[in-house]
Amino acid sequence: MLQETITKDRPAVRWENYVVPQCWESFTAEDHEVWDLLFARQVELLGSRVVSPFLDGIDLLRLSHPGVPDVEGLNAILEPRTGWRTVAVPGLVPDDVFFAMLSERIFPVGNFIRTREQLDYLEAPDCFHDMFGHIPMLAHHDFAEMTRHIGELGSAAIAAGAGDKAARLYWHSVEFGLAMEKGELKILGAGLASSFGEAHFSLESDAVERLPFSVQRAVHTAYKHDAFQPRYLVSSSLDSTIAEVLALTPERLLAL
Ligand SMILES: [Fe+2]
Repeated sequence: MLQETITKDRPAVRWENYVVPQCWESFTAEDHEVWDLLFARQVELLGSRVVSPFLDGIDLLRLSHPGVPDVEGLNAILEPRTGWRTVAVPGLVPDDVFFAMLSERIFPVGNFIRTREQLDYLEAPDCFHDMFGHIPMLAHHDFAEMTRHIGELGSAAIAAGAGDKAARLYWHSVEFGLAMEKGELKILGAGLASSFGEAHFSLESDAVERLPFSVQRAVHTAYKHDAFQPRYLVSSSLDSTIAEVLALTPERLLAL
C-alpha cells in the first residue's frame, strides 16, 4: 500500500534496499491459521461482489491453498503470466520507492500477518492485504499493465513535486476503486477487496458519495488514509478505466 507522506525531497534510493527475505518458514502455525481464517471469511463475504478478474486471479494463483503463500510460489505463477513478481518488505515503503517498484513490475508484500486479535484493524497493511487484495488483479494482463504505468506516472510526478496527484490516481483505482460489470456495482480496489468492514460498506452504504471515475476527478479527489472513504469513484467498466489511465502521460498528469 502507498505510504501517506510524500517524500519528494529525499535522495534517490534503489528499491532493492527495501527488500527483505520473506522467511516463509518463520510463519508460525498460528500465523497460517490466521491466514486461513481471513481467507475463508473474506471469500465468503465478497461472493460475487468483486470484479470477475479478481476471482479468476484467486483461482489462478491458488490462493485458496492453506496457509500464508510464499512469494516464490506466487512468482512461479505470476511472472510467466504478466511479468510481475512479488518481493517481501518489512512494512510500508516510501512513495518514491513504491512507484519505482511498480514501474518495474515489482509488488511489495509485507513479511508479517496480523494477529487473531487484530483481524479487523490494521495500522499497517500486512501480507493478507497485499497478497489477497493486490496480487489477483496483477494476473490480469491489462490491469497489470495499468499498474505498471501508474508506477511510471508516480515516479515522474514525485520528481516534479506533484506526487499527491499520482497518489490520488492510485488510491481511487488500484486501492479503493469501484467498477461496473455487467450492470452491477462491484469492488475493484485491493483496499476494499481485503477489508471485512469496508467491502460491503463501499457498495451499500447510503452515507457515501459514488461518483463516475475519470482521471481528472481521481487526481483532484482527496481520500482518507485512516478511515472508511467518504466517496468512491466508480469506473464505468474496468476496460475503460484501464484505457484512460494508460493514455495518461506524465506531462498531462502534471497539467491536470
Ligand atoms: Fe494496498
